[in-house]
Amino acid sequence: MKKILLSILITVMALGFAGCGQQEESAGNDNQQEQTQKQSPKEDGKVLIAYFSRVGNVQEEDGVDAVASASVQVVGGQHEGNTKIIADMIQEETGGDLFFIEMEEKYDVDDYDGFVDAAQGEGSQGIRPALASHVEDMESYDTIYLGFPNWWFDMPMAVYSFLEEYDLAGKTIVPFCTSGGSGFSDTIAAIEEAQPEANVAEGLHIYQDDVPSAGDEVRQWLNRL
Ligand SMILES: Cc1cc2nc3c(=O)[nH]c(=O)nc-3n(C[C@H](O)[C@H](O)[C@H](O)COP(=O)(O)O)c2cc1C
Repeated sequence: MKKILLSILITVMALGFAGCGQQEESAGNDNQQEQTQKQSPKEDGKVLIAYFSRVGNVQEEDGVDAVASASVQVVGGQHEGNTKIIADMIQEETGGDLFFIEMEEKYDVDDYDGFVDAAQGEGSQGIRPALASHVEDMESYDTIYLGFPNWWFDMPMAVYSFLEEYDLAGKTIVPFCTSGGSGFSDTIAAIEEAQPEANVAEGLHIYQDDVPSAGDEVRQWLNRL
């Protein structure tokens, strides 16, 4: 009788252990799945949104852009760069990392015309201004949205400084531009020339006055991409 009871007990314990083993195994699978899910955003590609705007690159008086023009938007009482506003919209949709292309020496002029002349002179001489901001881990990004205003039918020279600082071979550059009507001019060709091994995707141009209401256009463009 004792023997029978003992063999029943052993069978019950053996079944119990087997059950536990199965639970542990399935818990292991769940962990694996969780890890895979956590890794997937990386597999989809890390996104950087690098942009240049005039606001933030001119000397400020008491925290305010000293040479604001009629085309500069005012958000929450502060002057806001047109290109920055579009960059923020892209960030909201993609969840990418924002990066402001900031010059080491800001434009030091006290009127808008003087500033426009300074930017033109810099462009005609092909100057590459030193940058105050740098992307530490550029190799970790797969897609780089690159935003800039059209300046004299070209990119601001600081955007060339940015483009020439990194090796973007194999990455996708997605240009976006704001302007007073010139669109991209020849800037797409200039980006391709600066980074011949990168894939340059369909860009988006927004007219300066349409910037505040460009949300739908930005979303449609991102969906197309
Ligand atoms: C120095 C300078 C040059 C410009 N040149 C052009 C131009 O050639 N064509 C154009 O359509 N808009 C031109 N603009 C207008 C800007 O491209 C436009 O206002 C842009 O949205 C400004 O963006 P931001 O606020 O991000 O700097 C120029 C503006 C500046 C300040």
